[in-house]
Amino acid sequence: MSSFQSAPGTVLITGTTSGVGLYATKALIDLGWKVITANRSPLRAEEAALQLGLPIRSPNQLQHIHMDLSDLDSVRVSVEKLLQSLEEPLDALVCNAAVYMPRLVRPKWSPQGYELSMATNHFGHFLLIQLLLENLSNSKRPVWKGRSWGVEPSRLVMLGTVTANYEELGGKIPIPAPADLGDLLGFKKGFSKPICMANGKRFKPGKAYKDSKLCNMITIQELHRRFKDSSIVFSSLYPGCVAKTKLFRNTPKIFQWLFPLFQRFITGGFVSETLAGKRVAQVVSFPEFGRSGVHWSWGNRQKKNREQFSQQLSTRITDPETAKGVWDLTTKLIEKSK
Ligand SMILES: NC(=O)c1ccc[n+]([C@@H]2O[C@H](COP(=O)([O-])OP(=O)(O)OC[C@H]3O[C@@H](n4cnc5c(N)ncnc54)[C@H](OP(=O)(O)O)[C@@H]3O)[C@@H](O)[C@H]2O)c1
Repeated sequence: MSSFQSAPGTVLITGTTSGVGLYATKALIDLGWKVITANRSPLRAEEAALQLGLPIRSPNQLQHIHMDLSDLDSVRVSVEKLLQSLEEPLDALVCNAAVYMPRLVRPKWSPQGYELSMATNHFGHFLLIQLLLENLSNSKRPVWKGRSWGVEPSRLVMLGTVTANYEELGGKIPIPAPADLGDLLGFKKGFSKPICMANGKRFKPGKAYKDSKLCNMITIQELHRRFKDSSIVFSSLYPGCVAKTKLFRNTPKIFQWLFPLFQRFITGGFVSETLAGKRVAQVVSFPEFGRSGVHWSWGNRQKKNREQFSQQLSTRITDPETAKGVWDLTTKLIEKSK
């Protein structure tokens, strides 16, 4: 534990109607943070928060705003309204929302005509980040450094996953295929209907999710590369296998029943939503997570009192050329959608 003590700030977090985002909201409020949630249904976000005993629309603790991450226009409008309403800059942004639709036979399309999991998980968050970078860089969260007060850099935290990291066993699972953007042919061709995969090949719904999470993790590495001298700490984390969240709602019922048991008793990878939420809150808030460019993990087999460590990433995530391609092509695609 570091001896530095930083004051809580204001955090924007996406996707808090259930799972990791909901429990991270609770953990952050418990640490004294003011949380602004961004959801396609602020009403459902409020109901979920209420069920967890969180305060109802308290301006100093919890606010809910509308943002549909699959719709680039919605992201633009939401951020514009948010920036008008903020009295102080944000101190942290957590990109948490995601969809996983492994049983789709055909792709679903976003309002701008992009494959829905890439649109929600990557394009929506990429645009959100671009629109909030300047605001985040103005954050002035105080930190007590033992003898005097300083300023804690703001944090931009991405939910990553083991299945997008080819360096780990979970990232090599061939069902339906490991995350791999190939030569970015889908991106180069504009990634618009009917193109639905980053590599331009045929639709594999499970891989579409993994590829979108790979883009999320590449984005953090590229942000760190481009803005490492800025006052923002960029990091991602794997919170563990939170096998009971609604992320798995589109998997077969038998899988939803067996998967948590398998993770709990066979792999030992099972993590509760409460613990996952606390891990996100730590990455947002604790001084020891103030290193940029790190992908935090607590390992794949959960052990009591295990400390976080910087997880080795595959070259599919760290390769600067791929990252530049993803960055430039995503920027172009977002510009085109204006
Ligand atoms: N569960 C795990 O084992 C695990 C492991 C590693 C990483 N992760 C990551 O953790 C994050 C949270 O996953 P989870 O397991 O907590 O899943 P979850 O319970 O399904 O939560 C996903 C959240 O994203 C929101 N969302 C979906 N589409 C959206 C959109 N278009 N606009 C705004 N919000 C939207 C959902 O809201 P709605 O109610 O509106 O759908 C929900 O609040 C994801 O990034 C996931 O990749 C999870």
